[in-house]
Amino acid sequence: KRPVGVALVGMGTVGTEVLRYMETNGDELAARIGAPLELRGIAVRDTSKDRGVDSSLLTDDPVSLTLREDVDVVVEVMGGIDIAKPLLIGALNAGKAVVTANKALLAEYTDELAEAADSTESDLYFEAAVAGAIPVLGPLRRSMAGDQVERVVGIVNGTTNFILSEMDSTGAAYSETLAEASRLGYAEADPTADVEGYDAAAKAAILASIAFHSRVTAKDVYREGISAITPAQFESARHMECTIKLLALCEKVRRSDGTEAVSARVYPALIPLGHPLASVDGAYNAVVVEAEAAGRLMFYGQGAGGAPTASAVLGDLVAAARNKVMGGRAPGESTYRALPVATIDDV
Ligand code: NAP
Ligand code: HSE
Repeated sequence: KRPVGVALVGMGTVGTEVLRYMETNGDELAARIGAPLELRGIAVRDTSKDRGVDSSLLTDDPVSLTLREDVDVVVEVMGGIDIAKPLLIGALNAGKAVVTANKALLAEYTDELAEAADSTESDLYFEAAVAGAIPVLGPLRRSMAGDQVERVVGIVNGTTNFILSEMDSTGAAYSETLAEASRLGYAEADPTADVEGYDAAAKAAILASIAFHSRVTAKDVYREGISAITPAQFESARHMECTIKLLALCEKVRRSDGTEAVSARVYPALIPLGHPLASVDGAYNAVVVEAEAAGRLMFYGQGAGGAPTASAVLGDLVAAARNKVMGGRAPGESTYRALPVATIDDV
């Protein structure tokens, strides 16, 4: 079978691990896909840095790389919006499948990306954008497509969960633990996105859009971060047999006029110690889904870091590559009905 050409855009925390597993597990992946993956190039900012790869693969021109005729799947693990948005829309318009971990982009522009994907019947996969290694979008999109989700509540940011867990267990101040979270590769390039809840809000928007067949953007999500949480607040929480977690809550609500809408909120909350979310520590994430027929489901695992996130990216890459080989396509994203979004005043 003809190899499946892959363009890797970004070789940082996540991209390095994607490449590592593509190389070490190449034969196994080829067997699952039905054809080998062939890396056509790697786009980075600094091509002079030694990255332990053949330097002829490196380019600082992601546009030319992704539009190459021999590229079938674009894997975007670069981040940001300004460059990534036209890059991915251009790739989809050119018929390339796109796999991305870029939640900031998806939380604002899923519509435009989905439209481009649908116009050329290309795959658009983004499991890694929410909760790192945890497969939650796939189950919501596919396995639960026949059920009615009522509520999704979870811990979806590893950096803030790491910080809050450390503050709770060691009494450390917030700023000491943030530096460690960055060192471990959990935090975003600008950790404000993590600690002020923007990253969790982006994930909440994506989760709510998929779970409720709606279109929620990050701007629709009520948001509070954790930068004002103090060790004294943890002490008070302990007196009440609680801990503090940054929660993302997405649910169907009924507005005062009786119509149904989707509400999404991110805020630090007191969680009773006996609740399953209270024992989710470190950079781990957990997502609880409540649905009409399924009842309550809980998804748990590593929510950040290079290798866990690479697992989700690689799963999508295998699916997209297999579709290229078999001539199939994942269900499109443009089939959403417009369930409106509730404001904080409605809930
Ligand atoms: P990162 O370590 O900062 O890596 C970003 C990579 O993109 C670097 O290799 C960088 O090149 C390259 N890059 C940046 N701007 C570029 C440009 N204009 N042209 C070409 N290459 C460019 O980021 P990361 O932590 O791997 O995250 C990547 C994406 O995954 C983000 O969307 C993030 O939100 C998402 N994500 C991350 C995690 C995580 O745990 N880290 C988890 C889930 C999702 P240089 O190496 O030359 O700087
Ligand atoms: N910065 C993010 C987090 C990476 O800490 O959860 C995973 O999306």
